[in-house]
Amino acid sequence: MKKALTLIAVSAFFLNLNLLGDDSDPVKANWDRHCKKCHAEDGSGATKIGEKLEIKDYTDAAVLAEFSDEDLFTMTKDGVDGTKMKGYGKKLSDDEITALVAYMRAMVK
Ligand code: HEC
Repeated sequence: MKKALTLIAVSAFFLNLNLLGDDSDPVKANWDRHCKKCHAEDGSGATKIGEKLEIKDYTDAAVLAEFSDEDLFTMTKDGVDGTKMKGYGKKLSDDEITALVAYMRAMVK
């Protein structure tokens, strides 16, 4: 009985950790909420919309190498003229956008 209880306690602990793990990454949460439907969860752009809009593959090191962090920040904040990329300056704070830039940099495989 004691063993069973310990097991339950331990599983609950790990389950909780997992839940916390997902919730406690606000940057991923922002990416998933605002960017994923076009740029894909992994940044590859391999979504239906992404393919239609010819979105670039951020998992390819050469792609993001073309842009400075400032470029990525500005394009996220103000959008890219003439494309479906809208600015997120009203929805996201500068800090959140800066964090997303780092998040994109980390997508390179
Ligand atoms: C409606 C689909 C859509 C959504 C949602 C979207 N993007 Fe984009 N994004 C695009 C398109 C289209 C481009 C332009 C691709 C091109 O022509 O180079 C683009 C371009 C960019 C660029 C410029 C670099 C490049 O690929 O040319 C950055 C940086 C970027 N997006 C980041 C983001 C971030 C961060 C989010 C979420 C906060 C986001 N995007 C949400 C469609 C989208």
